[in-house]
Amino acid sequence: MKTTIAIASLIFMQALIIVSAQAKTTRDGVYTEAQAKRGEKMYAESCASCHGADLSGSGQAPELSGKDFNADWNTLPLSDLFERTRVTMPADKPGSLKPEQIADLTAFLLQKAALPDGQTELPSDLAALKTITFVSPKP
Ligand code: HEC
Repeated sequence: MKTTIAIASLIFMQALIIVSAQAKTTRDGVYTEAQAKRGEKMYAESCASCHGADLSGSGQAPELSGKDFNADWNTLPLSDLFERTRVTMPADKPGSLKPEQIADLTAFLLQKAALPDGQTELPSDLAALKTITFVSPKP
């Protein structure tokens, strides 16, 4: 009986930890300003040629900032946007960027979406990124 209660409370505490880890969203300051700055530089070098210097897109390349972009990613784990970029971008050289560089780029996209920065850098670890939900900025 005692063991059952002990196990039950362990499971309960584990659930609490998981819930609190998942409670994070992009409105909670999940990247740093310095990181977004690095991402901005990389964006100019590797992405702007297709997505535009102002992220508004051009030709086949969609906007990376604005209503459509927010709608594409809203409520999804941030790992989805990260993986989409890591695996398929830059479209002319997919897979050429390191995970840390993708994290910097993602930080820049969050900054451009007017989502707040914070004290800790956005991780490049997929498991950690899964615990952050992309939530669009307040209109
Ligand atoms: C050679 C042109 C080109 C370059 C360079 C490029 N992209 Fe793209 N990107 C595209 C095209 C075309 C699409 C849409 C079709 C596709 O997925 O291939 C796209 C789609 C995307 C999407 C999905 C957007 C959405 O809302 O569905 C993201 C995110 C993205 N690109 C990020 C980047 C980032 C970050 C870089 C720089 C590392 C980059 N792209 C460089 C052409 C490019």
